[in-house]
Order: sequence, then C-alpha cells, then structure tokens
Amino acid sequence: MKNAKIAGIGVYVPDNVVTNDDLSKKMNTTDEWIVERTGIKERRYANVEVDKNYIMGAKASRKAMEMANTTAEEIDLIVYATLSADYIFPGSGVLLQRELGCKNIGAIDVRAQCSGFVYGLSIAEQYIKTGTYKNILLVGSEIHSSGLDYSDHGRHISVIFGDGAGAAVIQPAEGEGKGVLSTHLHSEGEHAEQLAVIDPGFSKVPRFQPEMVKPGGSFYPVMNGQFVFKNAVVRFEEVIKEALETNNYTVDDLDMLIPHQANLRISQFIQKKFRLPEEKIHNTIMKYGNTTAASIPIGLSEALEAGKIKDGDLVCLAAFGSGFTWASALIRW
Ligand code: COA
Repeated sequence: MKNAKIAGIGVYVPDNVVTNDDLSKKMNTTDEWIVERTGIKERRYANVEVDKNYIMGAKASRKAMEMANTTAEEIDLIVYATLSADYIFPGSGVLLQRELGCKNIGAIDVRAQCSGFVYGLSIAEQYIKTGTYKNILLVGSEIHSSGLDYSDHGRHISVIFGDGAGAAVIQPAEGEGKGVLSTHLHSEGEHAEQLAVIDPGFSKVPRFQPEMVKPGGSFYPVMNGQFVFKNAVVRFEEVIKEALETNNYTVDDLDMLIPHQANLRISQFIQKKFRLPEEKIHNTIMKYGNTTAASIPIGLSEALEAGKIKDGDLVCLAAFGSGFTWASALIRW
C-alpha cells in the first residue's frame, strides 16, 4: 500500500480586503478589541456576484492541479469540505465537478466545519492507500461574509470569520515512509450547539420564520466563545500528540505545525505548550481571519511558498471546530 501525498496545492482569496476599521463602521467594535482578542487585522469578503463558494473552490483547484501537473479529466474523485455551501442541496462538490469539467466521477461533500480539510484528507487517504483512485481533488472553501450577524448580538463572531478557498491534489506517494503517515478524527456532538447555525433546518415547521433573520436570530452563527476556546486548546494538544505518538515521534521531531486558524491566541497557546519555535508554526489569521475549511490549505500553501517546508520535513496539520470536531494528520513531506 502506498501512502497518500499532497502533490499540488492552490489557494484563492477574494480581492476585497475588509479591515477591522471597516467593520467598526458597520458595528460597535474596534481594531484594538479585535487585534487583542483574536490577532486578526483584516479578512477578505467575496463578491458573491462573481465568487460563489464553488467558483472559489474551482480557482484554488486549478492552481493545485497545475502544481500537480494534473488535468480535470484525470481527477478520479472530488472531496469538498465546506459549512457554507452554495445550495442546501446538492452539495458544492457536484457544482465543482461541473465547473471544472471533470468526468462523471464521485463528489463527496464533507460537513466537519473547521476540521473539514483534515477529515477530507483522511477520506482521500483511504482511497489512495487501497489503490482505488490515483488523483483526488480535495477542496476547502467558505463564504462566511454573506451569513454573519453584524449587529451587536453577533459581533464577537462576525469579526472572526473571512472568506477564502484552498485545494489540494492527493496522489500516491513515491518513496518509502513519505506522504500522509496517519490521520486522526474525533467528534463530540454533546457540544453541537456551542458553535452552530441552527436554521433554516429541516427539523422545524415552518422551516422559515421571520424572527430567524432578526439580529440575534437563529439564521446566524451562535458561538459560546470562551467555551470554544477552552475546548480548542485541549483538543488541539491531544490530537497533535496523538499523531506524533502513533508514529513514534515527539514534538522535537516536528518541522512544521499548520494549525487551523481559529484565533491567533489559540495557536499561540499551542505553540507555547509544545515550546515550538516561531519558524515551526505558520499562522495566517492576521490577514484572512478564520476561513474554516480553507484555513489549513491556505496556511500550508503559504508555508510552502515561503520555503518553510522542505522535502522530507515532518508536518502536522491540526484542526478543531464546530461539532465539536477535531482532527490531525501527520505528513512526511
Ligand atoms: N468588539 C467589541 N467588544 C466586543 C466584541 C467586539 N467585536 N465582541 C464582544 N465584545 C464585548 C462583549 O460584549 C463583552 O462585553 P461586556 O464585558 O461589557 O459584557 C466583552 O467584549 C467580552 O466578551 P466575550 O464574548 O466574553 O469575549 P472573549 O474574551 O471571550 O473574546 C472571542 C471573544 C470570540 C474572541 C473568544 O471567546 C474566542 O476567541 N473564542 C474562541 C472562538 C473561536 O476560536 N472560534 C472558532 C472555532 S473554529
């Protein structure tokens, strides 16, 4: 069995930069509050007339396919991770299949929120290892900006999120001990409502009620920020350790940690906990906010471009988010 590897990676973020000062014109917040609590300075907002979720996914995918020297016709499977799909159904995976002109291949939609990219990598890994497929397109794409509550009720959430997309082409790894060494997935549904968009769900009649879209309504994300923070730091630590221990490594062996970008304070907490030097962790949240399923491929792509990941390096991807879900992947690059 051959390991899976990330053969190509691509990113697309909308041009429209929204600073904290821009947000303070829309709602009762300040640059100082946002930077101090989250580390975020700016984020990107999509113009949805042009950039649909799947269009952003396609733009990132084309770059990933180019890097992997692969064409859309050669893709065997799409795995599409998002919490902000274009339609309630069908999922954005089939829209991407149409947009790219792939063959009538399978398109799996993953709903694991911030852990979506790592969940997706784990799915792709299984198909590559068993030899079922040779070219899998894995996408994480999000448009948050159209669904946030910009009133004071939602200001602690709205300042965090941004739009963007990342994609990877997953192929069999050449060379002993290279590629994805293991993936680790977890969930704890007990806390599902601590970070969620509840409506318009199908478990309510009528599905749409006007109060849902009023400020503070259930159409918008809800988040118990401090509870999420406390759980995130524990689960990140656990799942990174799990990945290292499974493969008989310690944190000293790690060359690069790409954590999901939930909040810079969470990443810094983990960095401190593991005593990781600055060059062994890559954060992007200052520029893009929390882009949920897109944040890990964006971080990975940037770290690669900056020459921070080299052939043979040990790289850990780790995520935590709504569900709660959390996950990690250990990769010998
Ligand atoms: N601007 C200014 N003030 C704000 C604000 C904003 N955008 N959002 C909230 N506040 C205010 C609150 O109203 C509250 O005021 P009060 O003390 O007068 O009642 C005060 O700031 C503290 O609010 P609180 O929600 O307790 O802030 P916090 O210290 O927990 O920070 C988060 C909020 C969201 C930054 C923090 O909880 C966090 O980062 N949690 C993790 C979130 C996360 O990572 N989510 C993604 C997971 S994938």
